Amino acid sequence: MAKINLKLLQNQARKEIKKAEDLKGLNEIFNRYLGKKGELTLILRSLEKWPKKKRIKIGKEANELQDFLKLKFDQRAEEIKEKIKKEAEEKEWIDITAPGKRIILGHLHPLTQIKRKVEEIFQSMGFTVVEGPEVETEWYNFDALNIPAEHPARDFWDTLWLKNAKVKFLLRTHTSPVQVRYLEKNQPPLRIIVPGRVFRHEATDASHEINFYQLEGLMVGKDVSAANFRAVIEEFLRRFFGKPVKIRMRSSYFPFTEPSFEVDLLCINCLGKGCSACQKTGWMEMMGAGMVHPNVIKNSGLNPRFWQGFAFGIGIERLAMMKHKINDIRLFYSGDLRFLNQF
Ligand code: FA5
Repeated sequence: MAKINLKLLQNQARKEIKKAEDLKGLNEIFNRYLGKKGELTLILRSLEKWPKKKRIKIGKEANELQDFLKLKFDQRAEEIKEKIKKEAEEKEWIDITAPGKRIILGHLHPLTQIKRKVEEIFQSMGFTVVEGPEVETEWYNFDALNIPAEHPARDFWDTLWLKNAKVKFLLRTHTSPVQVRYLEKNQPPLRIIVPGRVFRHEATDASHEINFYQLEGLMVGKDVSAANFRAVIEEFLRRFFGKPVKIRMRSSYFPFTEPSFEVDLLCINCLGKGCSACQKTGWMEMMGAGMVHPNVIKNSGLNPRFWQGFAFGIGIERLAMMKHKINDIRLFYSGDLRFLNQF
């Protein structure tokens, strides 16, 4: 039988364990000595072949060596783990005495801020916030609002049409289609506002954009009147600007309201004298409005003999321009941080 030199094996294993630099390497050494086919494991397995006396002696020594090596492996593993942890800590070391770096925080776009403020005021007056689709059908954007094809009023809204074979889709030119959409599914009395993006194929200037935001308002009940409209809108504007306001209602024409008005606000910055915020006119056109036309009530599946109400459509940019004395609507969409950082 081959001679077994446990002392030599112990020295060899100890040296190798000491040299191991990482856990993977250490594991390999472990397998070489104590793994299934490890040197010491094979010795322990071969003991039965030895005469009894020798077997007891070598068995005892081999078991002790096994315990000893296991301990050494555990110790070295701990050392390696400690070393890894220390290295990571050194890498992530933070100098707590160094002056802090200021994190640059963004903020909401001024139009979003205005939209939220408007929603808050109307909600406190009992209005529900509702949304509608930006891609609309011809029916909801025009026909249901009492503007059939060939009606000259369609020219008020230069429309961006989508190419589609069956149904004529378009980018909504105003938020008014949501009036019908909501009335179809909800029983009056009701009051809603509809903030949303609208699109018009028009030339831009200081107060007109091709893409802008409107806020539709609708209140329907048994006896909702134009006087109610004036009261609601004055209260809204007073709360929005935080001071008393003066409005004028000019008679106007919209196919979906009868009578119809245009509402102008006396410039809150110059009180009518004329400044850059109101393009020197002293007034700013804020919204179109009127009493909902009986045909619109009918198109929504309701009986106009029982239900009546007012509707309005405010330009959200116009509110923001007046509030912050902004003289060009195009600034909102320029992405210019020198402008945006002021809010
Ligand atoms: C309408 O869009 C009607 N739907 C409003 C309405 C609703 C009337 C309910 C009656 C009942 P008008 O086209 O006037 O109306 O637009 C309403 C408001 O949107 C204007 O008063 C103005 O504040 C704003 N607005 C209109 N065109 C532009 C534009 N190109 N850029 C920015 N704001 C605009």
